Amino acid sequence: MKNIVIIGGSKGIGNAILLQQLKNNIVYNISRNAPEITHANLKHFTVDVLQDALPEIEVIDTLIYCPGSINLKPIGSLSIEDFRNDFEINVIGAVKSIQKYLPVLKKGTNPSIILFSTVAAKLGMPFHASIATAKAGVEGLVKSLGAELASVVRINAIAPTITETSLSANILRNDRMKENMIERHPMKGYLKPEEVANMANFLISEDAKSISGQVFEMDYGIVTFKI
Ligand SMILES: NC(=O)c1ccc[n+]([C@@H]2O[C@H](COP(=O)([O-])OP(=O)(O)OC[C@H]3O[C@@H](n4cnc5c(N)ncnc54)[C@H](OP(=O)(O)O)[C@@H]3O)[C@@H](O)[C@H]2O)c1
Repeated sequence: MKNIVIIGGSKGIGNAILLQQLKNNIVYNISRNAPEITHANLKHFTVDVLQDALPEIEVIDTLIYCPGSINLKPIGSLSIEDFRNDFEINVIGAVKSIQKYLPVLKKGTNPSIILFSTVAAKLGMPFHASIATAKAGVEGLVKSLGAELASVVRINAIAPTITETSLSANILRNDRMKENMIERHPMKGYLKPEEVANMANFLISEDAKSISGQVFEMDYGIVTFKI
């Protein structure tokens, strides 16, 4: 039984991870709202990761940081504040969580960290300047910390394409937009949060003990293929 800290398990990808992991592990969820589910293996802390102190947790094997943003605007409409906000929630929140829990995590079993990037960090897409910049920061963190913590703690990122969560609700707000999104991807699809949770499940497992410092594109081909 692992002790898993999820920052952002109340909804979206983090919630899909939480629901999978609860069956066999202790899950500590940290978010501003509680997850809908209650379970003997779940402990929730109502915390804003940017504003509040993070709770003390005594045993941790896995840390998963999910908060992120999709703030798509032309460069002329993006304020400096937009860039700062995207950097804060995507990078600084992750750094704060890692710094807080690393001493405990280092004593864990097969300890590892999962962060989230996006396909837009690799594939140039119009209007993604702010989020692509922030997620490039996440990918840099994964590379650097992967090396720094190499013999002790593994750290990897998942870089999903569009995933059906509340974060992307505006981009997938009607059937026509959903069909267009499927068509844009060479492998004809986009992600459900459970698919991303399956990847996280593998990356935190013993089967992934050789893997650190990597960014995994889950892209339905949009970064990888030109057809
Ligand atoms: N969805 C996509 O299409 C997509 C595509 C590429 C990359 N990603 C990345 O994947 C990750 C997960 O995305 P998602 O779609 O699952 O997002 P989501 O549905 O918005 O869920 C984000 C989670 O983070 C929590 N959270 C947000 N701000 C917080 C704060 N200040 N303090 C504490 N908790 C906070 C939210 O809970 P509360 O609101 O309860 O605090 C929620 O549980 C993000 O990093 C995102 O950038 C998503």
